[in-house]
Amino acid sequence: MNKSYKKDTILKLLSGMSSEKEIRKYLNRFSSDDYRFAVIKVGGAVIQNDLDNLVSSLAFLNEVGLKPIIVHGGGPKLSEELKRKNISFFFKDGQRVTSKEVLDVAFEVFSGENKKIISALIDKGVNAIPVIGNLFKCNIDNKELGFVGEIKETNSDEIKEIINSGGIPVVAPVGHTEDKQLVNINGDKATLALAQEITPDKVIFLSEIGGIFDETNKLISNINIKDDYDRLMNKDWLHSGMKLKLQQIKLLLDILPSHSSVSITKPLHLNRELFTDAGFGTLVKAGHQIDKYQNLDHEQETIITSILESSFKGKLINRYFENNKKEFYLSSCNRASIVISHNQNIAYMDKFAVINSARGEGLGNAMWNKMLSDHKQVFWRSRTNNAINNFYKDVCDGFQKYDEWSIFWIGINDLNKLTKCIDYAVKQPATINYE
Ligand code: ARG
Repeated sequence: MNKSYKKDTILKLLSGMSSEKEIRKYLNRFSSDDYRFAVIKVGGAVIQNDLDNLVSSLAFLNEVGLKPIIVHGGGPKLSEELKRKNISFFFKDGQRVTSKEVLDVAFEVFSGENKKIISALIDKGVNAIPVIGNLFKCNIDNKELGFVGEIKETNSDEIKEIINSGGIPVVAPVGHTEDKQLVNINGDKATLALAQEITPDKVIFLSEIGGIFDETNKLISNINIKDDYDRLMNKDWLHSGMKLKLQQIKLLLDILPSHSSVSITKPLHLNRELFTDAGFGTLVKAGHQIDKYQNLDHEQETIITSILESSFKGKLINRYFENNKKEFYLSSCNRASIVISHNQNIAYMDKFAVINSARGEGLGNAMWNKMLSDHKQVFWRSRTNNAINNFYKDVCDGFQKYDEWSIFWIGINDLNKLTKCIDYAVKQPATINYE
């Protein structure tokens, strides 16, 4: 596709949502690998009630050259159809017991739902290709559930071929056993198996509600499994269906590379979720391990130097690490760092840096909270034109503006001490040089 056409499309569709720079950042990130961009699970209810938005959002991705793998469900429609046909059905441990009769209807319904998505996409000029039945090799582990397959092997060759030839695969939740018996599989399990095989950057669940909500019905924007999982699973306001989802997402993040993330959103908000830092939905990440060091080895110095230089876009002075009254926070993903210096009685935050590609995923917040839990009193400075100052103004107890610098502080109430701190901060020589 012609580059400037692509750019126009993006700007047209996303204008007003965010800066062009931010959108480009995500576009570059998602375009870096042809079939590893995303596995998108489309809930059965979305096909019934929100097909137009779904198809528009997916057509947009196609227009900017991104090829997601679509997996869909069909449960609600299947229940409807079984009722209409007077076929009785029931669930066991959340799984639909699938008799031969139910299986026949299921196959019909899933093929029908698959076709609905395919033809709506084709109408919008997307080369959507159905994948029904030959992707998942299954066993029937629990005979009591009837023709329900547990996935043993996922053969993604066909999917990769479809994407390489410019198509978007749309996968129905059916598989087959060794002896070619068709089986019903749970759509979320199919998504999990596929994600494990493909290891995509994003796994996205599109549903009608579009996220996880807290007790006041406010959308939870970020969840870090490491910090939030146990706490959330113990809340009685969290619906059992959501707990189940969160449990599955945790399993998923355990097997995906650490930069991967899961988003829950609705079709209408898909592109805002994908192409802005703030997103629109619930973003779930494995969480951030943050370690603290008093002394650094050579490798850690190199890592921190590159984090600082890339986020401040300048060069660190040579002897930066020589002063030994420093303390370093470093995220295990090596993408964020905080440096505290203890030349004063009160901690001075000398650097706070998150590299550009890691912004928007809660890493900065996690670093900040960790630092703050160790330091009840802290002060720092920031250049007056630094975009982070809005955040600093929110979190500080007070700040004072000078020509070049703003000085911020937390927890310092004694005026004498405060004056000393401000004086110290203003007088510090610059440690980053700009060309
Ligand atoms: N656009 C980024 C992504 O898709 C960040 C999304 C942030 N979303 C959120 N709900 N906090 O990974």
